[in-house]
Amino acid sequence: MNGLTGEITRIDPVTRPLGGELTCPPDKSISHRSALFAAMSDGRTHIERYLVAEDTLSTLAAVEALGATVLRDDDTVVIHGVGLRGAAAPAGGGAVDVGNAGTLLRLMAGWIAGIPGLSVTLDGDASIRRRPMGRIIEPLSQMHAQLDARDGKFAPVTVTGGELSPIDYPLPMASAQVKSCVLIAGLNAEGETSVTEPIPSRDHTERMLAAAGAPLTRDGDRIAVTRAERIELGDQRVPGDPSSAAFPLAAALITPGSTVAVHEVSTNWTRAGFVHIARRMGAQIDGPVEEPGTPHTVAETTATLTATHGPLRGTTVTADEVPLAIDELPLVALLGCFAEPGEITTVTGAEELRAKETDRIAAVAEELGALGGKITPTDDGFIVEGTGGLRGGRLDSRGDHRMAMIGALAGLASRDGVEIVDMAAAAVSYPTFLDDLATITGR
Ligand code: S3P
Repeated sequence: MNGLTGEITRIDPVTRPLGGELTCPPDKSISHRSALFAAMSDGRTHIERYLVAEDTLSTLAAVEALGATVLRDDDTVVIHGVGLRGAAAPAGGGAVDVGNAGTLLRLMAGWIAGIPGLSVTLDGDASIRRRPMGRIIEPLSQMHAQLDARDGKFAPVTVTGGELSPIDYPLPMASAQVKSCVLIAGLNAEGETSVTEPIPSRDHTERMLAAAGAPLTRDGDRIAVTRAERIELGDQRVPGDPSSAAFPLAAALITPGSTVAVHEVSTNWTRAGFVHIARRMGAQIDGPVEEPGTPHTVAETTATLTATHGPLRGTTVTADEVPLAIDELPLVALLGCFAEPGEITTVTGAEELRAKETDRIAAVAEELGALGGKITPTDDGFIVEGTGGLRGGRLDSRGDHRMAMIGALAGLASRDGVEIVDMAAAAVSYPTFLDDLATITGR
């Protein structure tokens, strides 16, 4: 994952308000998809503002390993695709290394599954090897691909492509990765393949495949594709990642006197859950984001969001909101700690948090608890009692990028400061995080 595991970074409390403006780092989910769909395209795709971070660099290396040509100059990437059925096994026959990126493993498996005769092993770091892969093995096996995994459900996973049969797949959990995996496989299956979502999740795959000319339709919660001969992604500019923007915005919300603006944040409602939840907690976040349930479009728009500190109250997050804020729920816990004393924040229906880079229910409860937070873990979420702040202490990121960044925010707004074990994990999604903190703290 990174060579600095175990290193300790100290973040001292600020002595003055945060201020200033940042440009939001490019979206991780969209960067992964832009590289994959460009590799699956015929011809050349020009991508601007590609996320240059560990996870999405893994994706560039992975599509290159399968035969695409990748040229990168800083955050501009040009990819010459191999076409929908043109991927080849890596030279030398080794595994494709997905690093820490679950999205890469699960989406790429869907592509390989539909290429008869192709057999590729997908593997990654220690965290990837603990994450559930049964959720993609099940539908892809039903489609008649062959998947061999350690203990039947963990990476390394060897995917052997075949002539796929279409399926109608009711997703057992709200997961954009599983949804995307099945839809991508469906592009190479005879007939119509569909997925039905229990709760809407991020819709980037649908938006991007439709824009690329894939035969994709949506009817309520059911999304269907038929076999495609070709796709053409077309030039891309990656919008800012709401999951990354949430960190500087939350920093302002918990630090007295602060106002921070973040530019070029995606306004896509399937990613805007954190803004809606924070506003319910009384947070002042100015700027447009789409309301839940807005008709799905093809284009992704962006806007400037500005957060200003003020008193926070508790709220309840229910299952229908969870996929729209899944990666920000640990931040909701942090805001909950900074809510007025006695205010209760409850997150329910979020058992998926246990299947992330680390078990984020346990990590949030134990690590924020170690800083003075009052957090009770539950089977499917947590209950946070506001104390108006945190004492500080030591937080172990457990190699999880989002836990590392939470530790840094807690440090800024805490009484005593926070020592973060393995701050370097932030490079998975937000390599410029500490620079951006320096900008808004002015130190
Ligand atoms: C992602 C989907 C979510 C999210 C992850 C990125 C994606 O995972 O947590 O960070 O890009 O499709 P799940 O689909 O497992 O919920």
